[in-house]
Amino acid sequence: MNLREFFKYTAVGRAVLIPARLLKVAGPHALRQIGKMLQWSVTSKEYYNHTYHLTDLNRDYLVSYIAAVSGQPLLLIEKYMAELETDTTFRSTLEHRTLVSRDRHNCDLEPRYGRRLGWYALVRATKPKIVVETGVDRGLGTAVIAAALKRNADEGFPGLVYATDILSDCVHLLAEPYKSFCKILIGDSVASLKQFQQPVDIFLHDSNHDPEYEWAEFLAIEQRLHPASLVLSDNSQQSSKLREFAGRLGKTFLYFQDQPKNHWWPGDGIGTAFTAGQTTYFPVAKESATN
Ligand SMILES: C[S@@+](CC[C@H](N)C(=O)[O-])C[C@H]1O[C@@H](n2cnc3c(N)ncnc32)[C@H](O)[C@@H]1O
Repeated sequence: MNLREFFKYTAVGRAVLIPARLLKVAGPHALRQIGKMLQWSVTSKEYYNHTYHLTDLNRDYLVSYIAAVSGQPLLLIEKYMAELETDTTFRSTLEHRTLVSRDRHNCDLEPRYGRRLGWYALVRATKPKIVVETGVDRGLGTAVIAAALKRNADEGFPGLVYATDILSDCVHLLAEPYKSFCKILIGDSVASLKQFQQPVDIFLHDSNHDPEYEWAEFLAIEQRLHPASLVLSDNSQQSSKLREFAGRLGKTFLYFQDQPKNHWWPGDGIGTAFTAGQTTYFPVAKESATN
């Protein structure tokens, strides 16, 4: 038996390799992670609801994901994502709002949309009339959705995002001209959803991430959904509730996992319940529903 065979095929060889595996195989990964943590601790002010850019590959996968769940062409989704990435007016508004907010000590100046690029492209491609987002926090997602709705309105497809949060001092990022496309509902989300009376085109859960609470939100909004509605969750990396709800609605569930660029955070994701093989375009869905 040679040395290679000794390490590979014997119990003693396996035991001898343990320190080498730890130091040479796993060790470099841990060091890279510690390096990112050290860099983040001095360059970022955030300590929760981490924001980050996606890796280039992950961003392209997000284009494919949104194309799949909306049934819309890949090139159109790519165009909408690039539209947000290159919107300097919107970016400047967010930076200004951060600078003048008392939250400037716990927020980074640079807006990093991450998976919210996908939310934006989905709203642009499907032209919803009513979007509901639970969980506002700084309002990055709300502002991104409102920016998409503003562009839709400019093209003749008006829409509103209703965003709920339990904290009244949320949403410091939202300002005109985007604010007009948004209504903030302060209070417990489930209570707000139970009172909501309008048909919901896109519902996005991003509030209390306890799976039982997520489920309670889905049940509270269920009566407001219609056959073409899309249901999204920002909690599907740790909860199967949207997958379960998709089954209840007779829809397909698909999950996209974020891959943050140069960040120690493992990333969040987008779960979507949708009708596979169908193009979601709400103006047409509404017309056929009334015919
Ligand atoms: C993850 S953050 C939302 C992030 C936001 N959607 C974004 O794009 O950055 C979760 C928010 O949910 C709110 N929240 C927690 N429990 C809630 C509840 N029961 N009802 C409404 N909002 C709640 C928190 O105050 C917090 O602002």
